[in-house]
Amino acid sequence: MQNRNLEMLEKYGQFLLPVLPFRDIVITRGKGSTITDANGDTYLDVNSGQYCAALGHSNPEVASLLLKIANKIQDTDTATLSEEVLLCAEKLHHLTPEMNSRIIFLSTGAEANECALRYAKHIKERPGIIAFEQGYHGLTHGTAGYSMSRHRIRPPLPHSYTISAPQHFGTEPGDFQIEEQLSQFKDVLAKYADQIAAAIFEPIVSGGGMIFPDARFFKRIRELCNQFDVFMVFDECQTGFGRTGKLFHYQNLGVVPDFVVAAKAIGLGYPVACVLANGHTVTHEHFLMQHYSSHQNEPFAAALMAFGLDTIQSQGLLESNVAKGQKLLGIFNRLEKSFNCIRNGRGVGLMGGFDLFVEGVDDYRATGTRFCNLALENKLLLQHCNNGRTIRFLPNFYISDDDFRMLESKLNCTLQAFLSE
Ligand SMILES: Cc1ncc(COP(=O)(O)O)c(C=O)c1O
Repeated sequence: MQNRNLEMLEKYGQFLLPVLPFRDIVITRGKGSTITDANGDTYLDVNSGQYCAALGHSNPEVASLLLKIANKIQDTDTATLSEEVLLCAEKLHHLTPEMNSRIIFLSTGAEANECALRYAKHIKERPGIIAFEQGYHGLTHGTAGYSMSRHRIRPPLPHSYTISAPQHFGTEPGDFQIEEQLSQFKDVLAKYADQIAAAIFEPIVSGGGMIFPDARFFKRIRELCNQFDVFMVFDECQTGFGRTGKLFHYQNLGVVPDFVVAAKAIGLGYPVACVLANGHTVTHEHFLMQHYSSHQNEPFAAALMAFGLDTIQSQGLLESNVAKGQKLLGIFNRLEKSFNCIRNGRGVGLMGGFDLFVEGVDDYRATGTRFCNLALENKLLLQHCNNGRTIRFLPNFYISDDDFRMLESKLNCTLQAFLSE
């Protein structure tokens, strides 16, 4: 593995900053659920780029929208608004009635998390943040301190508290179990509530292992946040924008956060993020903190997002994402029956995954990489998470029955190769 990484660094690292081992393919174009490389090989992409190209690659309507906006304006100064921004903010506000949302458009998920957490700390006048040990909120200086990679931050971020994300595959936890899962959260609040501004969670913990906490867990978190006067922040960078069958996953769970952070799919493949602040709890009197960045409230971001919102509504994509999610689960179930090394197939809407299981293996990093490399040989682009243990799937919303058939066949070939090595 190490050799392969070194080889890739040698091949591509001369002019690029090598922050991660590159795959040995160079993409020339994408179309729908596929991408084609410089050798003319076509790969199935079941992760919509980096979970961003929600309406597929080279979507002609997205392309013409970008052209239209590029012909109109390139950039606005940070304090000047455009009609696109006003229109999209109003749209989003009406689609999130529980939140009475007020919106800021930004560029990346990490930037939006920074903004929400900065706001939360400013309002509560406290420095502390609680997060899941397995959570991921980006890799800026601040967000990395609240993500599973926190141990790499030097110096470690002070007042950063963690709790375990609750895991229960295939079984519904009882109320007693839910209270047990909350014990760490209650302990942290009991000791440090006067230091804590916010609790930030991915409502589905993706990179940390495709963990789906029960709605009752988050409802109790909401109650405890109210009780201890702590903001609840949902990082919906992956779950948001219809992927799980509602516009935001908090709407599936029936809890209303104080801040919702969205990114990835909302930009349809381009750098767009946003923060929705709950207008009931983050009121105008709080808006004294200034947040300033070059690409804040950009018309192209709002135009892309508004187009995405209209498309999701007019084409019934929320419903079809749920139906397609069932197809994904069907594939996982059939694979589990044929291959003992696949376990815990799980998912909600178009966000799913399964675990690899190999007798005698505890550290799955090399195993997960080997699996994804074999998939690549079968012209299937996959990503592992959870330190190699879990393979995750976040396809674009137009993934077709043919794509699903191709996926199942490629996974079958990959698994056969995986077991025969
Ligand atoms: C849940 C979650 N939050 C935040 C981020 C960071 O987003 P970005 O990479 O756009 O900064 C990611 C990116 O993978 C994510 O999955």
